[in-house]
Amino acid sequence: MNDMRPSWAAEPGAKSDAAFGHPPPGGIGEIVLEVENLTVQFRTEEGLVQAVRGVDIDVRAGETLGIVGESGSGKSVTMLAVMGLLPRTARITGSIRLRGQEIMAMSTKEARRIRGSKVAMIFQDPLTALNPCHRVGDQIAEMVHSHHPEFSDRAVSSRAAELLELVGIPQPGLRARQFPHEFSGGMRQRAMIAMAIANDPDVLIADEPTTALDVTIQAQILEVMRTVQEHTGTAIVFITHDLGVIARMASRVHVMYAGRGVEMGSVLDVFANPLHPYTRGLLNSLPRAGIHTERLVPIAGSPPSMLHPPTGCAFHPRCPIVRPECSSGEPPPMAAVASEVAGSSRLSACLFADELVADAWAAR
Ligand SMILES: Nc1ncnc2c1ncn2[C@@H]1O[C@H](COP(=O)(O)OP(=O)(O)OP(=O)(O)O)[C@@H](O)[C@H]1O
Ligand SMILES: [Mg+2]
Repeated sequence: MNDMRPSWAAEPGAKSDAAFGHPPPGGIGEIVLEVENLTVQFRTEEGLVQAVRGVDIDVRAGETLGIVGESGSGKSVTMLAVMGLLPRTARITGSIRLRGQEIMAMSTKEARRIRGSKVAMIFQDPLTALNPCHRVGDQIAEMVHSHHPEFSDRAVSSRAAELLELVGIPQPGLRARQFPHEFSGGMRQRAMIAMAIANDPDVLIADEPTTALDVTIQAQILEVMRTVQEHTGTAIVFITHDLGVIARMASRVHVMYAGRGVEMGSVLDVFANPLHPYTRGLLNSLPRAGIHTERLVPIAGSPPSMLHPPTGCAFHPRCPIVRPECSSGEPPPMAAVASEVAGSSRLSACLFADELVADAWAAR
């Protein structure tokens, strides 16, 4: 078999970045979000779209979990299900627990209350969260007030100003009186983060929050998120296409393909020795600083239609090491891979993960 190491895992200096796969600032705590066997289907005119097909994710207090996968792999839908933000056409099954409380079993009202106090989400476009007609400070104050109705007006405004300061908005008093259109893209993103953390969530979900920003502003926003995490101890779930962002921000990574998890482990372990052919393909295909673009190899083919996902392992039609067993039956579940190259708590859904381990040894 040819050398399938991610080209840049072998790049000199690629792992010497101190921030690479950095551990959670306050250490890892108890499980705050647990998603088990989550499925989401959408009724459409063309048929049933099987967007999420049995996803398991756990997130611990204070950690940053990265979720990666090509477009359409179900990253956003999984987290929108956690947030209760899917449209009515969605049929959801499985379990979603926030600090041990099963929200799938709750009334809509109760689930909304629990979500409101435990999870928040930020998006690529801050204008999805900010109301253009209201002053930024008022919107943040409103969030603070709704979670702390006991606060006096004065306490609410001072908390709002504190939040603006925490996300690095200069002259927070002045800025609070402005409208979203008076803010630059980066400042709006900061304001959205301030709103999201106003209720002191256990989990902050970030869906491609920096994709639309230029590189300098992107780096600043990532820094803001780290600062927020250091101050509040919130867990962060970071959805992105950008493996460089995962390397900088996350301690663990969950790789998704065609509505399922295919690999999971610490960022260091997964990036150094991916144990699913899809992860290997991703690492070899995506650009990252310091890697010559001519060394990038795109994954052959394209992701499947979720109206009719392939049987067996959904990646089999594109897999460079496909075998007859890969195409039949149910998709293989993620299973523990025990080996020194795998690192601890490593999961892979490849039937031949053990051979990939051997391969990784040989590559050393
Ligand atoms: N409201 C909807 N109705 C029908 N299908 C949907 C709906 N929302 C999402 N889907 C489908 O669900 C699948 C998963 O979508 P999702 O948005 O979660 O992908 P993603 O991994 O977030 O991709 P991207 O990286 O492009 O954001 C896709 O096939 C998508 O077309
Ligand atoms: Mg998405």
